[in-house]
Amino acid sequence: MLIAQKMSHDMENSMMPESDELVFFVNGRKVVERNVDPELNLITYLRRKLGLTGTKLGCGEGGCGSCTVMISKYSPLQGKIVHMAVNACLAPLCSLHHTAVTTVEGIGSTGTQLHPVQERIAKAHGSQCGFCTPGFVMSVYTLLRNNLNPTMEEIEDTLQGNLCRCTGYRPILEGYRTFTQSSSCCGGAGDGRNCCKVQPNKKSPKLFESSEFKPLDPTQEPIFPPELALSESPRRTLVFRGERVTWIQPTTLSELLALKAKHPEARLVVGNTEVGIEMKFKNMLYPVILAPTRIPELNSTQRTETGILFGAACTLTYIGSMLKEAVDELPGYRTEVFRAVLEQLRWFAGQQIRNVAAVGGNIMTASPISDLNPLFVASGCLLTLASQGSTRVVRMDVDFFTGYRKTMLSPQEVLVSVEIPYTRKGEYFSTFKQAQRREDDIAIVNCGMRVAFREGTSVVEELELSYGGMGPTTVSAKKTCQELLGKQWNKELLQRACSLLASELTLSPSAPGGMVQFRRTLSLSFFFKFYLSVLQKLGQDFKGDFQVESIPPEQISATELFHKDPTSSVQLFQGAPPDQVPTDVVGHPLPHLSSLKQATGEAIYCDDLPRFEKELYLALVTSTEAHAQISSIDTSQALKVPGVTCFLTAKDIPGSNVTGHIAMDETVFADDVVTCVGHIIGAVVADTEAHAQIAAKAVKVTYKKLKPIITIQEAISHRSFHIPPLKLENGNIEQGFGQADDIVEGEIHIGGQEHFYLETHCTVAVPRGEDGEMEVFSSTQSPSETQVIVAKVLGVPANKIVCRVKRLGGGFGGKESRSTILSTVVAVAAYKTKRPVRCALSRDVDMLVSGGRNPFLGRYKVGYQKSGKIVAVDLTLYCNAGNTLDLSSSILERAMFHMGNSYKIPNIRGIGYPCKTNLPSNTAFRGFGGPQGMLIAETWMDAVIQKSGLPADQVRKLNLYQEGDITYFSQKMEDVNIVKCWDECMESSSYHSRRKAVDEFNRQYRWKKRGLAIIPTMFGASFTATFLNQAGALVHIYTDGSVLLTHGGTEMGQGLHTKMVQVASRALGIPVSRIHISETSTATVPNTSPTAASVSSDLNGMAIKNACQTLLERLEPFKAANPTGAWEQWVFAAYMERVSLSAAGFYRTPDLNYNWNENKGRAYSYFSYGVACSEVEVDCLTGDHKNLRTDIVMDVGLSLNPALDIGQVEGAFAQGLGLFTLEELRYSPDGVLYTRGPGTYKIPAAGDIPAKFNVSLLREAPNKKAIYSSKAVGEPPLFLAASIFFAIKDAIVAARAASGVMEPFRLDSPATPDRIRVACVDALTEMCPPAEPGTFTPWNVEV
Ligand SMILES: Cc1cc2nc3c(=O)[nH]c(=O)nc-3n(C[C@H](O)[C@H](O)[C@H](O)COP(=O)(O)OP(=O)(O)OC[C@H]3O[C@@H](n4cnc5c(N)ncnc54)[C@H](O)[C@@H]3O)c2cc1C
Ligand code: FES
Ligand code: FES
Repeated sequence: MLIAQKMSHDMENSMMPESDELVFFVNGRKVVERNVDPELNLITYLRRKLGLTGTKLGCGEGGCGSCTVMISKYSPLQGKIVHMAVNACLAPLCSLHHTAVTTVEGIGSTGTQLHPVQERIAKAHGSQCGFCTPGFVMSVYTLLRNNLNPTMEEIEDTLQGNLCRCTGYRPILEGYRTFTQSSSCCGGAGDGRNCCKVQPNKKSPKLFESSEFKPLDPTQEPIFPPELALSESPRRTLVFRGERVTWIQPTTLSELLALKAKHPEARLVVGNTEVGIEMKFKNMLYPVILAPTRIPELNSTQRTETGILFGAACTLTYIGSMLKEAVDELPGYRTEVFRAVLEQLRWFAGQQIRNVAAVGGNIMTASPISDLNPLFVASGCLLTLASQGSTRVVRMDVDFFTGYRKTMLSPQEVLVSVEIPYTRKGEYFSTFKQAQRREDDIAIVNCGMRVAFREGTSVVEELELSYGGMGPTTVSAKKTCQELLGKQWNKELLQRACSLLASELTLSPSAPGGMVQFRRTLSLSFFFKFYLSVLQKLGQDFKGDFQVESIPPEQISATELFHKDPTSSVQLFQGAPPDQVPTDVVGHPLPHLSSLKQATGEAIYCDDLPRFEKELYLALVTSTEAHAQISSIDTSQALKVPGVTCFLTAKDIPGSNVTGHIAMDETVFADDVVTCVGHIIGAVVADTEAHAQIAAKAVKVTYKKLKPIITIQEAISHRSFHIPPLKLENGNIEQGFGQADDIVEGEIHIGGQEHFYLETHCTVAVPRGEDGEMEVFSSTQSPSETQVIVAKVLGVPANKIVCRVKRLGGGFGGKESRSTILSTVVAVAAYKTKRPVRCALSRDVDMLVSGGRNPFLGRYKVGYQKSGKIVAVDLTLYCNAGNTLDLSSSILERAMFHMGNSYKIPNIRGIGYPCKTNLPSNTAFRGFGGPQGMLIAETWMDAVIQKSGLPADQVRKLNLYQEGDITYFSQKMEDVNIVKCWDECMESSSYHSRRKAVDEFNRQYRWKKRGLAIIPTMFGASFTATFLNQAGALVHIYTDGSVLLTHGGTEMGQGLHTKMVQVASRALGIPVSRIHISETSTATVPNTSPTAASVSSDLNGMAIKNACQTLLERLEPFKAANPTGAWEQWVFAAYMERVSLSAAGFYRTPDLNYNWNENKGRAYSYFSYGVACSEVEVDCLTGDHKNLRTDIVMDVGLSLNPALDIGQVEGAFAQGLGLFTLEELRYSPDGVLYTRGPGTYKIPAAGDIPAKFNVSLLREAPNKKAIYSSKAVGEPPLFLAASIFFAIKDAIVAARAASGVMEPFRLDSPATPDRIRVACVDALTEMCPPAEPGTFTPWNVEV
C-alpha cells in the first residue's frame, strides 16, 4: 500500500511542474531552499539542517511548547506585520514561505548579549534541566514583541502551551513577573503569618535581585526583514514536491476548487495541528496537500446583519480578537454566543496552537470532542460550502456530522466561511467544558446551550443543547429540547430536563474514552449550571417584568465561571552566616551554573551533538501484543524504503542478549515471545530519521496470542509474582489489635505515573574503529551501568566502552535503569554497521516502551485507641512491576520502609508482592515507592480520623515520631525535626483559623466546597541496596590554577554540578569561577552508582571533599613557603616541584548495614522531614478543583544552595501534585497504553500550582551526617503534594454531607475530576448509575 501509493505519486510528480523555491528568513538570515519536502517540519530543518539545536523537541505533537519559535509575517488580513509564537514541531516548512523565523539563538547568547527574557528566567532560577527553557523564552519573547507592558495574567496565558517538568513553574513566573507592574510580595498586607514582614525573625535573603536585571530595550530587537516588509509575497501558485507528498498553495478560490475537483482526496492544511498529528501518529499519508492561506475568501472577515462571518482559514487567535472587539462594542444581549466562544477559546489548547489553528480545521476535523462544534451547532452558525461550479449555505446542526470524524461535505467541497450569529433580547447562551486539566487540554465533555424565551415571559420558545464527548459525533439532545418547548423556566423544568437528558444521552458502559458515569453526570450538571445562570440573567434583565424564580443564595456558587486567582509566593530560608568568607558560596542561592546557556539554547543535550560523519539513525519495532509468540517478521516493505541499511533482531547481538538489573530477566530484543505492548522486537537503521521511522512502521509482525495478565487484580488471582512476598514485621500485631478501641479496614489503589522528562531517551553510539572500542553518549542517570550492560551485549570487556553524559533534560528515575533498553540497541546497530548510530525516541515510543512509576494496591487493617493513638497496623501491598523485575523489589522495599510515614507504630506487619504482569517494566520514579507507601499510610490515617471523628491535625500530631523512638525497621530516631516542621507549618499556614474559615465557606455554599489538610513526610536518605552508597571523584588542577572537576553523578536539572562546584570551591578555598565540570564519563570516574536516591550530593560531595583535601595537603608546603601568595602561584610552584596536581576522592556512607531478613541494622543514614498544608476548592458539579494555597516547611539541613533546594521542593511538589490529582495512565484491558503524549497524558501546567505557594526551609537544622551539614532534597518533598489529595478528600466529605451522606468512602489516586465528581454524590449522580461490573468490557482498566 505504502509503496503503491508512492509509485502513483511518483508518476503524478513526473507530470507536474518543478518544485518552487521556498524563501524565508531564520534569525535575520535569508534561506532559499530548493526541493523542500512537504513532510519536513520546521524543527527538523532547524535542528538537522541549520544546526540550530536550541529549539527542542519534547513531544512532536504541539503539547509541550519546548519547540516554540517566533514567526513574523505580513498579514494581508490585518494589514500589518504580526509576530506569533508557534510550535516548530507542527509547522510544515512549506508553510513558511515569505516569513521570518526567530529562534532562541536569534535573540541573544552568552557570547554576545543576553536578552532580558533569557537572563531573567535563568537568574530567577526558572531553568533546571533547561530542556523546556528555550520554549518558555520564546513564548515570552513573542509576547513582549507584541506587548511591552504585559500584565501577569497575560504572561500566565501566554505560557498555557509550555510545560516544565522540573521547576513547578513558580520561579519561571516570578522571573517573568519582573516584566509586569505586579509584585508577588504582599508587602506586609495580606499574607497573614507567612509574611516575612510580620515575622521579622523570618527575614530571608532574596533568591534573586531584580534590580540587577538588564532593562528591556525594544530598540535592540532585530527588525523584520525589509525584503519581506516591502512587498507581500507574489500572488502566484506555489508547488513544493517531496518524496511522497506534494504541497500546492493556490491563490484564488476558483483555483482551489479546481484542484479539489482534481484531487478530491487532497487535504486542506492551515495550522496542520490535526493533519500533522494524523501523519505522525496515525500513520496517515496524504499525497496532495492544498494550503488555502492566501485565498481571500477563506481569510477575510465581515460583519453581516445576522452575525460575524469568518473565512474558514482564519486562525483562532484572530477570531478571538475580532469577537472581543465586537463584545466591547455591542450591547451585551447581542453577543451571548461571542462571549461563549471567547470563554471556550480561553481553554482551547495553548497560544502556539491558537495562533495557527483555523476555525475551518476545527469544524472539518469533526472531532466528537471539538470545543467549538457544540457551540456552533447550538447557536446555529451558517456555513458556506463550495465546490467547482456550486456554492451552498447550510445551517450547522448535528446532521452536518455524518459519523465519527465525518461531515456532509462531498470530497470535492471545501468550507469557505462560518457565520457566528448575534443573539437577541431574551436569548441566552452558555458553554461549559470539563477536561482532565484546565489549561491546554481537550474536553471530556463540553457543550453549547441556547435558550430563547417567548417575549415578556420565561416560557421556552427555542432550546438547543449540544454536547461534545457524548458520542462519536457532536450530539444534540433533540428529544429533551423538543419536550421542553413551551415550558416555564422553573424547578419543574429542571427536573424534567435532567431526567430526559439522563435517558436521552446514554453511553455504552464500554464507550471509548471510558469515564461513562462521569460523562453522563456531567451532561446533567452542565444543564443544571445553565439553568441557574439563565435564571440569574432573567432575574437581572427582566426584574419586575414577569415572575422569575429566585435562586437560593447557597446555590449561586454553581453559576460562577472558573476564574484564576492572582498568584503569589513566599520563599523563606536562612542565609549564610555573615562571617562566611566571600569566596565561599556554600549556602548562597547561586543560580544553576548552566542556566544561562540553557536559556540561550547553547546547552548541549545528547541529541544536540552535531552529526558524526556517516551517521545513521535508528527506529524501534515494538510489539503490538501484550503477550504473544512471534509467528513471523516481514521486513520486505521496510527494506524497500529509501536509505534503509538494515533490520536488527536478537540474532545480530554479538555478545549476550540477556540483560537485567536486579535479576537477569530481560533481553535486548524479544526472543520468540513478547511480554508487553512496546516490547522491543527489532530495529531499523537508515540514513535519516524520517526513513528509519517510515521503515519501522512498514515492518509487519504476526503473532500467536497468549493470555495476558494486565492488572494487579489479575496478577493476584493468577498468583503471578516476580519473587516471593517481602515481609516486614515488628511488635506483636495480635496484641496490638487487642489494645485497640476500634479498628478500620479498607484499601486504596494508586495509579502509576509517566516520568515525562522533557528530553526523551537518547543514545548516540560511535564505534572507535580499534579494539572494539565504542563511545556511547547517552541520556542516562547510570553511566556505569550503561557501560557494563553495553559491554556485555557487545561481548567486550567494560574497558572498551566509554559512556559519556553531558547533561539530561530531566530524569526523575526514568533514566536510571530503563535507558539501557535503548543504549544497548543503538550500540548493537553501531557495532553491526561500523558507523555512528543515533536514536532519540519520539515521545509516544518513549512512553510506550519505558515504563513508569509502579501502580500500587494497598490493603489495611488498623487498630487505634480513643485518643487517636495508633496501636496496630496490618498491611498488604501489591505493586504492578510489569514484565520484568527491574528495580521493583527495591521499590517495594522502600514502600514498606515508608508504609508508616512519620508515625510511630508499635505493632505492624507489612507484606509486599511485586506483581508480574504484561506491561512494560515499571521502574524508579522520584520517591522510589516511598510516596506510594506513604499515601497508603495517610489513607489509613484518614480512615482513623474519619471514623474517630477526632480533629485530623490532632491525630496526626499525636502519632508523630519523637526523638529516640525506634522505627519498626529498627532504626533509632536521632535529630528528629518532624515536630518542629509540623508546628512551624501549623503556624505559618494559620491552620486553625483557616480550618474555621473553610467550614464556614462550606456552610454557605452548596456546589463549591473547600478542603484543608496538613500532611507530614519523612524520607530515608541512602540507597537501601547498601553497596550503592559509594562515590568517586577526580579533581585536576592545571598549571594556570583552573580546576577540572569530575564526579560520578549526572546533571539532570537538579543542580548537582552547581552544588559540587560549590563544595569544591569551599574545600579548595577558591572561587567558583575557577572550577569547571565538563561531563560525567566512565573514563574518569569508574564504577559509579546511579544518580538517584536523593543522595548524589551527599555521596559525590564527600568524594570531592576527600579529593580536595588530598590536593590541599599536597599544596600545603607551598602555601607555607609563600603565605601571602596566590592560589595559582602555589599551584605552579607545586608543579615545578613535580607534585601531582590530580587526585581521586572516594566516599562510602558509614554505618549502613540493614539486614532485611532479620529486620536489624541501619537502613538509612538519616531522614529528611517536611510538612505541607494545602487548601483546595472543589466544584462539586464538575469535579474540577482549584489549588488555592500551599504552605511547606521542609528540613534540608543547612542548605548547600537554597535556590536549588527550593527549586527541588517546588518541583517535587508539582510532580506529586500530578501524581495524586492529575496524571492518569490509561490502558486497554489488553494492555495497550492509550495515553502516549501530552495530548492525552496531562502533567501539571503553570495554572495547576497553588495560587499561593509558600515554601520555607527549616532554620537552624544542621545535619551532621552529610556534606557541610546539608540534607537530601530531590525526592523527600514529593509526597507533600498528598496534602492536596487529602484537602480534596476533605472537600468531598463536605459535599457528601450536604447530600446527607456520612459514611466513609474510598478515594483512589489520582483524584481526577472523574473520581471527585462521582464521589460528590447527589441527585444527579444517582440519575446516572454505573453499569454492574462484570456485565461489560470496559474501555480501560485500572492496572
Ligand atoms: C496540542 C493540541 C491541542 C489541541 N487542543 C484543542 C482543544 O483544546 N480543543 C479543540 O477543539 N481542538 C484542539 N486541538 C485540535 C486542533 O487544534 C483544532 O481542531 C484546530 O482547529 C485544527 O485547525 P488546523 O488549521 O490546524 O487544521 P488542519 O490540521 O490544517 O486541518 C484539519 C482538517 O480540516 C480540514 N480542513 C481545514 N480547512 C478546511 C476547509 N476550509 N475546508 C475543508 N476542509 C478543511 C483538513 O483537510 C483537515 O482534514 C488541539 C490540537 C493540538 C495539536
Ligand atoms: S515539541 Fe513541539 S510542542 Fe512539544
Ligand atoms: S527545567 Fe523545565 S523541564 Fe526541566
